[in-house]
Amino acid sequence: MRRLLGEEKLRHRELDLLSYSYDSSFLTQTGDFRPDVIVVARSAADVAATVRYAHEHDVPVVPRGAGTGQTGGAVAARGGIVLDLSPLNRILELDADNLQVICEPGVVHADLNAFLAKRRLFFPPDPGSTKMCTVGGMAANNSRGMRAIKYGSTGDYVLGLDVILPSGETITTGSVGSRALQSSSGLDLTRLFVGSEGMLGVITRLRLKVLPLPASRGLVLAAFDVLEDSGKAVLAVFQAGVLPSAIEILDSSAIKAVNLYKPGLDLPAAEAVLLFELDGNKPGVAHDAQRVAEVVCQFTPRVRWADEPKQVAALWEGRSVVGAASGQVRPGATRVYAGEDICVPIARVPEALRGIQDISGKYETIVVTYGHIASGNLHAAPVIDMASAGERERVGYVAEEIHELALRLGGTVTGEHGVGLTRRAYMTREHGPALATMSLLKNALDPQGIMNPGKTFPE
Ligand code: LAC
Ligand code: ZN
Repeated sequence: MRRLLGEEKLRHRELDLLSYSYDSSFLTQTGDFRPDVIVVARSAADVAATVRYAHEHDVPVVPRGAGTGQTGGAVAARGGIVLDLSPLNRILELDADNLQVICEPGVVHADLNAFLAKRRLFFPPDPGSTKMCTVGGMAANNSRGMRAIKYGSTGDYVLGLDVILPSGETITTGSVGSRALQSSSGLDLTRLFVGSEGMLGVITRLRLKVLPLPASRGLVLAAFDVLEDSGKAVLAVFQAGVLPSAIEILDSSAIKAVNLYKPGLDLPAAEAVLLFELDGNKPGVAHDAQRVAEVVCQFTPRVRWADEPKQVAALWEGRSVVGAASGQVRPGATRVYAGEDICVPIARVPEALRGIQDISGKYETIVVTYGHIASGNLHAAPVIDMASAGERERVGYVAEEIHELALRLGGTVTGEHGVGLTRRAYMTREHGPALATMSLLKNALDPQGIMNPGKTFPE
């Protein structure tokens, strides 16, 4: 590998191996996921050379972006090579007329949107980890985030990909040389690689659809004294014919966490706060915000709205810090990522919210709940004392029960973070015979099983 890539692109000191053995998941804090070597790729040619090497020598290779994943997807489950794509962070071309941008996988989501905003464009998917996560990781996990209810998933904006297959060969999906915004030509390989979590190949280039940036955004904030009413209010807003660009929930412990972390935000104490975001032209936003406020008033009198950009940004900040803030609710404790992104049918969100509270009570474990309630995608964040062996063990049961709850309510164990290592056990139940078809596709493209082995499929 030294001869192939040069020593400067390789990392193999103990500290490097350790650093790359973690993502954000609790799981990687409980086991050893060290690779044998890390390749810090500087070009697609480095990626191709690495994959060819892995192919020739039958060595596992694990693509990795910023490492913000929460399921162990980007760590080595069976040793081998971790392929760090984060230096591939160039925006290669903005084709504004054709509403698309071509970029490398290591571009950070917030950087892409800052770049596009100057041209009055935006890339609509908006994950909570916008300031850290990369677009390659977003595509690999088909991530969603806040705006999925109105704008859809990351995959809905991927027009084409350059992918290095496990054989080392490079293909372009979505029609070679195309700048079309859609295509019905052939099998949709773009869709196959989106969400494939690095198991079928390595993405080295993305052609992404972008949209005109809405001129205005407004926010309605509502505080509820009864947790379930927040879920009912979401349904009532849709029934009133309004489609917000996002609806986010913070439960009572999430509100507490945010207020402790950023006292200036001063969120109202309640069983739940909902943030409805409206976007579009200014009069349209005002009209919709008014309508949302009217509908929500059936459930709570504590409703206010803002469309002044500074005020909107300040209110959104509460949502954006909650992930980092969750641990604050219990001094000395840590928020862990386990069972953290279930998605249930929206009509069953009230049951899911109560169910998570019940699980929290049963295991005497604080669970801070927030997330993308508009799509039924909830983040349940257990907060535990990492020094306590008992609590570390208990949180496994908490996560398991949260996953079971999602399935019982007709949902899925992962709405946006992916399967990785942490949700493999549920795949047979979720997919039935379709899992065997997934396995066929995997084996056809990667007969040696070198691409991110040990992920998604149950052991
Ligand atoms: C969020 C990530 C955790 O929404 O999905 O904050
Ligand atoms: Zn999220």
